Parts: sequence; C-alpha cells; structure tokens
Amino acid sequence: MTAPVLRAQDVTMQFGGLTALKDVSLELAQGQIIGLIGPNGAGKTTFFNCLTGLYTPTRGQVLMNGKQLPNDPAQVTIAGIARTFQNIRLFPNMTAVENVMVGRHARMSQGAIATIFRGPKFRRGEAEAEKRSRELLDFAGIGRSADDLARNLPYGDQRRLEIARALATDPQILLLDEPTAGMNPQETEATRQLIFAIRDTGVSVVVIEHDTKFIFGLCDHVSVLVQGELLVEGSPEMVRADPRVIEAYLGKPPDEVEAELHAAEGKGAGQ
Ligand SMILES: Nc1ncnc2c1ncn2[C@@H]1O[C@H](COP(=O)(O)OP(=O)(O)O)[C@@H](O)[C@H]1O
Ligand SMILES: [Mg+2]
Repeated sequence: MTAPVLRAQDVTMQFGGLTALKDVSLELAQGQIIGLIGPNGAGKTTFFNCLTGLYTPTRGQVLMNGKQLPNDPAQVTIAGIARTFQNIRLFPNMTAVENVMVGRHARMSQGAIATIFRGPKFRRGEAEAEKRSRELLDFAGIGRSADDLARNLPYGDQRRLEIARALATDPQILLLDEPTAGMNPQETEATRQLIFAIRDTGVSVVVIEHDTKFIFGLCDHVSVLVQGELLVEGSPEMVRADPRVIEAYLGKPPDEVEAELHAAEGKGAGQ
C-alpha cells in the first residue's frame, strides 16, 4: 500500500473542560473516499477544523504526505486541502462564477505588482481563472447558473457551488462537511455522483454526513465518531453490521437498519 496522503495521529481537542476529540486517528489514501459519521456534537466538524489549521489540536498531529501541516488555514489550502462548511459560506452578492474565482485566487500566484497595475499579466490570469471557474461549475452540474448571484441559487445548488469553489484551489484532498444537508433525493444522488467524479480525478475525499445510507453507498471506509472518540472504523459492510454502531448511533433495530441499507444498495447498483 502506498503512503497515506493524510494521516491524523491521536488528535485530541479540548475546549476548557470539554474534550471534543480524544485520540482520533485517520489515514486517507490517494483516491480514497472516507466517511465520517456520528451523532450531533460527536466532534466531526471539530476534526475537520483540526485538519485545516482552524484549530490547533491540544495533542496529536496531522501529516500531509508525511509532513506536518501548518496551523494556518490559508497555508493548508496552498498545501492542497480544500473544504466546504456545514453552514454554507458563500459571497451571496457575487455571482456563482465570481465565488469560484475567489477559490482560484487562493491558489494563483499573481505578482503583487501585476495586481496593482492590472497589466496584461493580471488580465491573462483573470481570464484563465474565469475559464477554469466556468469549467468547474459545469463539472459540478451548475454551469447554467454561472452568472446568477449566489444568493439566488437554490439551496442544493449553493452546496454544489461551495464544492466547485473548493475544487478551484486544485486540492489533493477535499473535506466535505454535510454536503447533502437539505437536499432532496435527486440532488443527493447527483452529489454522490459528483463526489465519485471528483475521486476519479485522483482527489482523496473525507465526507461528514448524517445520512448513513448516503455514506454506505459512497465510501470505501467509514469511521464512526461518538462523543469525540472513534467507536468503530472499517468497510461500510463491517461498520453497518457492528452492534455497537447500531446501538450507539443508528439507534434502530438491526432489521430496520438492514432494510434501509438494502434499499441504498439497490440505488447504488453499478458502482
Ligand atoms: N470553538 C469551540 N469552543 C467550544 N466548544 C466547541 C467549539 N467547537 C466545537 N465545540 C464543541 O465540541 C463538540 C463537538 O462539536 P462539533 O465538532 O461541531 O460536532 P459535530 O460536527 O459532530 O456535530 C460540541 O460539544 C461543541 O459544542
Ligand atoms: Mg458538524
């Protein structure tokens, strides 16, 4: 097996007396999709915040390609990790394509002088960024809304716009925090296919989601977080059959959970 692109080792995060994460480890291989599930307050978003330099873990470390990541979100973006947020964070009064271009700028190396004088080099850079941004909107399935204000996009399309903006930074690793929250079944399925397409370009993905059907039908590996601790991890088949997961998280009788999972499998046929 090749070395993981991302390795979190014993990440612990305390806020005062509250331990939001305790010794959480995760290894992400290139092109892998890992699901992170768990009840509300389990520490899922906190874990993403620790991976992206927003929080500095109290203990433990995060390595990307074997190197410790900087404790600075902008530097983490440049290192090749992009994310979306549980609560959508777009610029509502900018168009969809402008929002994606903001992501592009987080990565582009426009010289300061060229930017100040807005010379030909600057304009070439802008044209390139806009072209690439429109391509990413097409890829995310919302190309028709490129020139609409972000706030006028339907909710599900705003979530996909966030993904397009994250992709504009040319990430090696993409972290998605509840990408299908508030989506209808068709939008959820389109998002599942979009994540597969992203993975097929070589990007590694970690997805937080409440919808276990969605996670089991998408991920190669699933980690279950309960009260800040990794309860179980393994293949979707292993995780969904684990009595501890059924009891602590799924909270339903196993036969009911199984019925849901079979329904999900039917939908996911061909993957
Ligand atoms: N900045 C913070 N300050 C204090 N407590 C926090 C902070 N961020 C998260 N927490 C706490 O950490 C716990 C885990 O939260 P979170 O990671 O948002 O859970 P999840 O995403 O799994 O629903 C919660 O108890 C939350 O209140
Ligand atoms: Mg969360």
